[in-house]
Amino acid sequence: MDSFALVIFGITSNLSQIKLIPALYDMEEKGLLPSGMTIVGISRREMSDRNLKDYVHSVLHLENIHHKHEIKEATFKKLCMRLKYLGGSVEDQQLYEKLSKFLDHNNRIFYLATYPDLYHYVFENLQKNKLNKQSGGWIRLMIEKPIGNDLPSAKALNNLLLKYFTEDQIFRLDHYLGKETLQNILTFRFANDIFEPLINRDSIDHIQITALEDFGIGKRGGYFDQVGTLKDVGQNHQLQMLAFATMNVPSEFSNEAVTKERLKILQSLMPLPDSIIYGQYEGYPREENVAENSNTDTFYALKTYINNERFKDVPIYIRAGKNLKQTVTEISIVFKNPPNKLLGSLDCGDEPNVLIYRIQPNEGIVLKILTKIPGYETKLQPEYMQYCYRIDPHRHYIPDPYERLLVDAIRGDQTFFNDAEEVEAQWAFIDPLAQALKKPHIYKNGSWGPKEADELLKKDGRAWLEPSMEFCRM
Ligand code: BG6
Repeated sequence: MDSFALVIFGITSNLSQIKLIPALYDMEEKGLLPSGMTIVGISRREMSDRNLKDYVHSVLHLENIHHKHEIKEATFKKLCMRLKYLGGSVEDQQLYEKLSKFLDHNNRIFYLATYPDLYHYVFENLQKNKLNKQSGGWIRLMIEKPIGNDLPSAKALNNLLLKYFTEDQIFRLDHYLGKETLQNILTFRFANDIFEPLINRDSIDHIQITALEDFGIGKRGGYFDQVGTLKDVGQNHQLQMLAFATMNVPSEFSNEAVTKERLKILQSLMPLPDSIIYGQYEGYPREENVAENSNTDTFYALKTYINNERFKDVPIYIRAGKNLKQTVTEISIVFKNPPNKLLGSLDCGDEPNVLIYRIQPNEGIVLKILTKIPGYETKLQPEYMQYCYRIDPHRHYIPDPYERLLVDAIRGDQTFFNDAEEVEAQWAFIDPLAQALKKPHIYKNGSWGPKEADELLKKDGRAWLEPSMEFCRM
């Protein structure tokens, strides 16, 4: 791997604390950071290099649900050797003059872990100081969702980016694309030819995409209240989940070919604003930094279709929300029952087969089937044929999505990053739905969301699947 400098704008941000610094620690531990690679942390705070190291130390020892393992002092020290601190405001020219003196590498990644309102200052000043100029090395930019807040603002940001960088330098990160469980969908589908012929309208009754969390917004009120669940996870993570599960086989396993197929799905989604259901958990307006009379959605459920031959008329139901009964993220592909199903009249004989991509918590790929209960009678029971990560006999290490995506960015591989068109297609689908936001239905904490979300499926003679924890248990 080439050596390089990683410049993090916003080293004290929530994103840096929760995701970036722990990912860099893990990469250090696994020897994934090349020798001589440096990390320049930028923020407004007055800090010395020593203070930065203390700060990183404390961040690594914070309770972090995404990063639970032991911190080894030797690894921490190695990471510290790479760290440099630069204080100042991103609006200020002088910061960049100092930055040019700090940068001892021609290969550079600029990571924007800061507010989108500040991006343009960073770009302008990088250019003024020729820091975005590729001479004798590569320059890459990493930015996170939200890429805009709707289609016009996303287009404006994409255009702005193109003034300073070329598309192959821009790494728009959606951390779901770095999830091993999501990436494995492509392998499962395209490396095993037996399932692929079934993934179409002839065999599939409907698809459900679920992303539920049993916790609330915590201290993120300032951000979340401006955004809501549809834009926070629906516009990005969940649409990508759908794209992975339904895209056609790419002509080759390359960034261009994979992105092209994802994009085709995103561009053929049909927004149905009349059917979207919005919910809000009880007590949400009393959360920190949330408006008293907030109508922000902490839950949504919608129905859509993919407007192509393969999935024509196959309903897709998507739901997500906070403070619900269970934390679970999955894609369920519910197959049709043949009209004269043998044994269909027995108890649970009419239960359909379901292919489940369980993204979390009990990660796996599972096929729900019917089996005979051992004994002298023909009695049926639903069971799961499963591939489970947690009981992987080879004990493979599952990289955190940030770690995985940073490795890809260092390699210059954009396969699991979004390009401008994808982000815009996602907004084109979401905008009409977001405009239909009315007063959300209030739901009880710890429930499955508002009952209106159940009605959405009931009208079609269907029901949300209760996510099973019966498979891939530890
Ligand atoms: C983030 C959202 O992008 O994804 C959060 O802003 C959400 O609100 C999170 O909780 C879910 O990610 P994960 O990896 O925990 O499923």
